[in-house]
Amino acid sequence: MQSLIVLGRQPALALAELESLYGATKVRPIGNQAALLDIDPCLVAFGRLGGAVKFCKVLTILKTTEWREIERFLIKSSPEHTTRMPAGKMQLGLSVQGLDVNVRTLGATGLSLKKAIRKLERSVRLVPNKELELNSAQVIHNHLTGPTGWELVFVRDGAETILAQTVRVQDITSYTVRDRERPKRDARVGMLPPKLAQIIVNLATGPLPDDKMSSICDIPADQIIPQPHLGQTLLDPFCGTGVLLQEAALMGYNVYGSDLEARMVDYTAQNLAWLETTYRLEPIQPKLEKGDATAHHWTAPVDFVAAETYLGRPFTTQPPAEILAATASDCNLIIKRFLQNVYGQIPAGTRLCLAIPAWQIRTNQFKHLPLVDQISEMGYNRVSFEHATDDSLLYYRPDQIVARELIILTKR
Ligand SMILES: C[S@@+](CC[C@H](N)C(=O)[O-])C[C@H]1O[C@@H](n2cnc3c(N)ncnc32)[C@H](O)[C@@H]1O
Repeated sequence: MQSLIVLGRQPALALAELESLYGATKVRPIGNQAALLDIDPCLVAFGRLGGAVKFCKVLTILKTTEWREIERFLIKSSPEHTTRMPAGKMQLGLSVQGLDVNVRTLGATGLSLKKAIRKLERSVRLVPNKELELNSAQVIHNHLTGPTGWELVFVRDGAETILAQTVRVQDITSYTVRDRERPKRDARVGMLPPKLAQIIVNLATGPLPDDKMSSICDIPADQIIPQPHLGQTLLDPFCGTGVLLQEAALMGYNVYGSDLEARMVDYTAQNLAWLETTYRLEPIQPKLEKGDATAHHWTAPVDFVAAETYLGRPFTTQPPAEILAATASDCNLIIKRFLQNVYGQIPAGTRLCLAIPAWQIRTNQFKHLPLVDQISEMGYNRVSFEHATDDSLLYYRPDQIVARELIILTKR
């Protein structure tokens, strides 16, 4: 049973995340912005996927990429399916990836389909396309995943077209609440978006255990969180205001955080208490300590390590070369010393995902930390992905100088 996942703004990160949780053989990238996932759809933990935008059920594969032929198929075969829907006005939306069609033609197809559905005495509203794809907000506001909703997604796959129906979209309201409404935020330590935090956690945990998969996913579609307790502990040794720990707690992990600054540890405690109340979680009972990651002693157990490490100064314009070199050297030293310190405290095989800084010195050209090339010497193996190259695991906006580079490691 295949599902189609529509990927977010940084598809390489989304592909690595899927591969990390479900394995490379279960994931097949389709074009630039989608992937097929070859597992039981009930087992897809969509709510914890930070890189995925839509979760769709594959309806059929069409042996054509010609829009006229696709349209003909649609108008001939889909209206009858609407007769099986509950009564009430139907909402219809269309989204397209990789096919040779423009917004106007897509709109005209929608109107023809609407007409064909109306012939069956069914009232229907077409959501107008401003772009070739409807965004999550449009899908949510127009109830396209509800009982009388229908978003049809067409994605070109070589000489064929996948036709799928959206069953869930990312919960943008909850992401906004988690990002903006927590009591303690600090622009100085940066604002890690919850979606990126989810990706980092998923890259740190690696494959979900088979026996936990069904309990993770056995939740109603409209209740994305909280997840059942997973019994494993995730450590963030640079926890700051606690965004990573928040997301890990929502996924059902025990959370353990430390930070150099006592104020940050306190912020994390307050944010986790707020999360517990807001999402009516079981008591989170986080373990939180003030500690320098380059020397701190954490108490076992630690099953995974995930962190957005020290990123250095937040540059808004291109810094002089010597300032950049000094910042990079500081960051490199702290993160390297942390990796040396934690090495003796975690069992062999423990997986880590770190967001470390890289600097965009020219458009899409980055200065990386030297430690990226010294991972093996430090006693770690780098985890690479089949569907995303190591150097594509960078999170940044085009105008940003400081990017976050994700490195995934296991202790040898
Ligand atoms: C980029 S911020 C992490 C922000 C965090 N992800 C959040 O949700 O707010 C880096 C954090 O590392 C902490 N830090 C810097 N050097 C450290 C060290 N040597 N040991 C532990 N924490 C350190 C800073 O106090 C800061 O809170």
